[in-house]
Amino acid sequence: MKKGSLGMRVCFGWRQFLLFVTLVFFLTRLISVLELHHDPAGSHQTKTKKYNHLVFGPAAGEGLPNRLQCKGHKALNKSHISSSSNTSNGGDGVTFVTVFTVYNSSVGSGSSESTMVGKVSYNKVDRSMAILNTFINFIQLMMPQSNTVILTDPASSLPLKRNRVTVYPIQGEYSRDKLMLQRIRSYIAFLEDKLKEQSRKPGKRISNIIFTDSDIAVVGDVGEIFTKYEDFHVALTFRNNKQQPLNSGFIAVRGTRDGILRAKIFLEEVLKVYSSKYMEASRMLGDQLAIASVVKSRTSLNAKAFSAHQPFLEDINGASVLFLPCEVYNWTPPEGAGQFHGMPLDVKVVHFKGSRKRLMLESWNFLQSSTSHDLSDMLCLVLSSGRTKYDF
Ligand SMILES: *[C@@H]1O[C@H](CO)[C@@H](O)[C@H](O)[C@H]1NC(C)=O
Ligand SMILES: *[C@@H]1O[C@H](CO)[C@@H](O)[C@H](O)[C@H]1NC(C)=O
Ligand SMILES: *[C@@H]1O[C@H](CO)[C@@H](O)[C@H](O)[C@H]1NC(C)=O
Repeated sequence: MKKGSLGMRVCFGWRQFLLFVTLVFFLTRLISVLELHHDPAGSHQTKTKKYNHLVFGPAAGEGLPNRLQCKGHKALNKSHISSSSNTSNGGDGVTFVTVFTVYNSSVGSGSSESTMVGKVSYNKVDRSMAILNTFINFIQLMMPQSNTVILTDPASSLPLKRNRVTVYPIQGEYSRDKLMLQRIRSYIAFLEDKLKEQSRKPGKRISNIIFTDSDIAVVGDVGEIFTKYEDFHVALTFRNNKQQPLNSGFIAVRGTRDGILRAKIFLEEVLKVYSSKYMEASRMLGDQLAIASVVKSRTSLNAKAFSAHQPFLEDINGASVLFLPCEVYNWTPPEGAGQFHGMPLDVKVVHFKGSRKRLMLESWNFLQSSTSHDLSDMLCLVLSSGRTKYDF
């Protein structure tokens, strides 16, 4: 009896060992395949290299219908409204709101380290100011009737004076490691101010609000969502990614008392979940995990909804939430060759996440310098260089 069971155990041990070996083999294979996918040039030397000049690869989505087709930096599809076309009504009644602060890096090292973009030399502070200004440039080009609000630390005096742009100080804790948390707090404080304003002047029209990261380029009239989809209070962008189906870089709020109130309640719940469950998460991801957690706990949404490409509406805690596909409203360069399979012809927002801020500045420079000022050509530039990691 004893012997038998020992034999069984040994046998089991062997099987486990074989399974283990097989698993290790598969995992190492998988990791090397993943690495290959992340590596634009396919060579291990370039894996950590970050470029200080534009590097191009093939444009994803070649041959796919309804995806931008490029020949070099020439777009073969010109369906996009170009920057010279008549968009003078674009953005009427829309306010873009972003959280931005400059870090006084005089204490840290490398603050004087400068880098060239085109003919301009930038130190670290200049660089982040250039990104903010480029963010505003794209908005004002595509939606000239819109306004922009920069929520910021009262302690940082932003050197920014532009038409249709308001610097809006909100008290808070803007240190790097608290910034994502503070961002939600600032959004909530801004919505509270809007509600108070509206109580004081009930007749006054409130503008529709789009909260975004400041490393995005608006490349179409995103304001049209408010007329195209009439029944939502809050809009979020989704993608087909199990761990992070929702991106926090784009949150639209309808400018009605009801819309603002429900958006505020939604964000307060996100804040609560963030502070109680995701404080340990990487400082960049906590808010997205919290948003996904609130959405999932309040609906029966399954992964299937996020794998489709169509917008859909869900009721969450009394708020009518519109889910918009990232591929159109929050398109990210590294995913161009991945799950999005190229760039949809109707893309409205390009998000220069991670080490792609240089590409954002270079794209704007390209648009300004090319004789045709053609936005589709610029999108070809983004599409073919978005998988490269840049120095900032
Ligand atoms: C985009 O351009 C390509 C190449 O000219 C063409 O084959 C394709 O039909 C165009 N797509 C659309 C939707 O117009
Ligand atoms: C551009 O739009 C404005 C406002 O809708 C209009 O008054 C103007 O005539 C348009 N210009 C052109 C060239 O179409
Ligand atoms: C940054 O630090 C310098 C030196 O300590 C100081 O003179 C400057 O006022 C600070 N700027 C901001 C925006 O805090």
